Amino acid sequence: MAERGAQAPILPLGEADLRGALALSASAQWNQNEADWRMLLALGQGWGIRAAGSDGREQLAASTVVLPYGGAFAWVSMVLVLPEFQRRGYARQLLRHALGVLAAHGMPALLDATPAGKAVYLQEGFCETWGFARYRRERSEARPAQRRAPSTRALRDSDWPAIDAIDTPAFGASRLPLLRTLARRLPQAARVLEQGGRLRGFVLGRDGREASQIGPLVADDDAAAMGLIGDVLRDLPGSVYLDLLDRRLALLPWLQQQGFAFQRPFTRMVHAGPGAPGDNEALILVAGPELG
Ligand SMILES: CC(C)(COP(=O)(O)OP(=O)(O)OC[C@H]1O[C@@H](n2cnc3c(N)ncnc32)[C@H](O)[C@@H]1OP(=O)(O)O)[C@@H](O)C(=O)NCCC(=O)NCCS
Repeated sequence: MAERGAQAPILPLGEADLRGALALSASAQWNQNEADWRMLLALGQGWGIRAAGSDGREQLAASTVVLPYGGAFAWVSMVLVLPEFQRRGYARQLLRHALGVLAAHGMPALLDATPAGKAVYLQEGFCETWGFARYRRERSEARPAQRRAPSTRALRDSDWPAIDAIDTPAFGASRLPLLRTLARRLPQAARVLEQGGRLRGFVLGRDGREASQIGPLVADDDAAAMGLIGDVLRDLPGSVYLDLLDRRLALLPWLQQQGFAFQRPFTRMVHAGPGAPGDNEALILVAGPELG
């Protein structure tokens, strides 16, 4: 067994690690599926630590991924350690490695922390900014399709410049490669609200290991957000997650009517920076803690 505090070799994650990576995220009951890990490793860069477990079998014991958003900043994501290997310093070691790589590129790091992760990140110089929470609608609580006509329409390829124009100030960086990938992952959740020739909001989604996720959602007010979410839910009968900013709690009674219940909290944290980039006035649902 590795000694507590001993430095373990850090290895780049690749195609051969997908099975181990999936076992890691499933061990924490996270929602990522193989397509998520492929997307993260295609858009970003991952590292892991391999170690032998109590059965003597070597496995992927810990992971982390960084996802650069243009040159503006990078997301630190998938900080995971199998339960058997926790409290050996693996998360701290991988995080320091990732931060070193980002510092070499002059890129600030951001992340969305679980309560367990926050303990590690605070020690490494991350500061808390705003919070959001995950809500889940169970499959059994799915409402029958609403009869009203949709107020939104399916996203078209020609929408991308307008989507980029409202998403970049809301998120803090242009992230079109990610958004385009999400639109392909769950086309029935890719919708826009257009009024008077102006794009008032968009939403995307993705499939997951145990539920679909709706997000990101950027819109200019709560009514626009309800129109977008309501229209997506009509085509999404199974279990659904969404991650709502705490400052948008005015939407919660409506979400509860749709069957959503609180699941767990997250905190957006920044490393060596005054606050989170972007303007969260228009940001309503984040893409997810692993994506920002
Ligand atoms: C959070 C997690 C990644 C920590 O991994 P880890 O390898 O056990 O963490 P480390 O051993 O590097 O811990 C570094 C320090 O953080 C603090 N820490 C880590 N886990 C902690 C916990 N559960 N409670 C309190 N403090 C904790 C400790 O101060 C620890 O140092 P110490 O052991 O010398 O006291 C791991 O518990 C995990 O995978 N949890 C489930 C998934 C998750 O929530 N990931 C975070 C995503 S934001």
